[in-house]
Order: sequence, then structure tokens, then C-alpha cells
Amino acid sequence: MLTPDNPLRGDYSHMAADYTVAQEWAAYSAEDHALYQRLFERQAARLPGYACDEFIEHVHELASDGIPRFERANELLGRATGWQIVGVPGLIPDDVFFRHLANRRFPVTVWLRKPEEFDYIVEPDVFHDFFGHVPLLMNPVFADYLQEYGRGGMKALSLGGLGYLARLYWYTVEFGLIDTPQGLRTYGAGILSSGGEILHCIDSPAPHRVRFELMRVMQTEYRIDRFQDTYFVIDSYDQLFRETAQDFAPLYERLRGLPTIDPSVTVAGDALVAPVSHYDTHRRSAA
Ligand code: PHE
Ligand code: FE
Repeated sequence: MLTPDNPLRGDYSHMAADYTVAQEWAAYSAEDHALYQRLFERQAARLPGYACDEFIEHVHELASDGIPRFERANELLGRATGWQIVGVPGLIPDDVFFRHLANRRFPVTVWLRKPEEFDYIVEPDVFHDFFGHVPLLMNPVFADYLQEYGRGGMKALSLGGLGYLARLYWYTVEFGLIDTPQGLRTYGAGILSSGGEILHCIDSPAPHRVRFELMRVMQTEYRIDRFQDTYFVIDSYDQLFRETAQDFAPLYERLRGLPTIDPSVTVAGDALVAPVSHYDTHRRSAA
């Protein structure tokens, strides 16, 4: 929780009006680069069979030794989808965040976690933001979805729909699963940058995996301090784009009259997807 006792740890004193800062790549220490490299290698080994193909392809394309240079990523992103990443000191206000997305700019935190936070960190750092979020910005459909989400966010702010829209972000951009011809995979950044949840979300019999249904998602609460109890499964990024293209204003109206769904339960009408067993492969030994 971000409270006065637990303030944001980034340095917000040198930023521009839009909350951006220079990455200052030369200022990272050798220890920072080595830590990022260890995080990358642990996570890269866990991707096959768990992450969607396009994520795996682009994460390697964007990879470098140690902490990546934003400038180089921006050359690749610019060519692929016209997105850019901008450095930020950490979490930024909702309206600022949405405006960046609506202009195809993804805010990436510039600082890296400490070695003792290898497995778990409370605030997003450069590893979560870059490793988790940037690869899919290379995918044209996902890139368009995120821009539309930014526009939708500015609209939600004026309609009082922010809480509902935040659930959609959580259950897609951060913790989404996708059904592919090869099996269930994840495209969610919160999972992809997590050493434990990437295995759990695909293999574990514990969580519910529910086929994506827009209103169902926006009715569902989420927990930020533990593995998710429910994941929502899309068929394609096209589906995501299509189903969120409608005007959300009437949806927000309806949602105000609908009950909130606890993430630990399923409800009538849910189409469930079974977990994938990887017992017959070598992957468990890599975990
Ligand atoms: N179509 C939504 C609206 O009218 C905006 C949106 C687009 C939301 C894409 C999420 C994702 O508010
Ligand atoms: Fe994130």
C-alpha cells in the first residue's frame, strides 16, 4: 500500500510536467546491470510453454546485456508500431498515465529493485515495466488496444468509471491469459515478470480460468498482494480490441446496478478453461 509511511521511492524532483525523466543509462551501477541480467535469465528460461509466442519473440529481440537502453527499444518500437517508451520516476497519476497511452507512449520506471526484492516487489520497477510490458507493444493489435485503453481512461475519469476500467487493465494487460493452438499461455505483464505466478497461472489447479466476458471482468474485484484467484482467457488480441471498441458510458451505468464479484468464486454463465499439465516435459526442472 502506498501510504505516507510508505511513500513512492522514485525521485520525482527532476521530472518534466508530463512526469517524464531521462533514463540516464550511464548512471546504473554494474550491480544493477548484473541484477537485471539475473532477473532476465531466470524469467527467460520459464517462458517456453507459458508465455505467448509473440511475447517470447519480442522479448529476445529487445534484449541486451543488463538494463536495456530505452533509446534502442524506441528504434525497434518506432519501426514496428510507432510506440515509444518514456522514462518515469515510478507510479504516476491516472490522468497523466492515460494521456501517455493515448499518445502511444508507455511510461517505464527508470529504477531497479534491490537484490533482496528479486522475487517480489511492491511497486513496479524497470524490470517489471520493460520486461513485462514492452515486448507486446511490438504487436500491432495489442498496441492499438493499449492506445484505445488510454483514450478510454480519460473518458472513464469524466464518467466515474475508473474503478471498472482498472479491473479490465488488471485482468488483461497485467494478468491476462490467451488460448492459443499450442495451449493456454499468458500475455499479462504482471505474470510475465513474476517468477512464481508464470507457472501458477498455467499449471495450478487452484485458480479459476474464465473465458473473457467484458462485463464479467469489470464486475470482478482483484487482489494486489497475492497470486490471482481468477484469470480471464481471451482467444485473440482481435477479440480484446473488438469487444472493448463499444462505448463504455452505458456499461458504466449498468455496472453501478450490478453486484461486485469476488475473485475467489465463479458465477453462473462462466465458461471455464482447464489448467495445462506440463508434467510430461522438462520444464518443471527449469523451475
Ligand atoms: N471503448 C471504450 C469507451 O468507450 C474505451 C476502451 C477501449 C476501453 C479499449 C478499454 C479498452 O470508453
Ligand atoms: Fe504493469
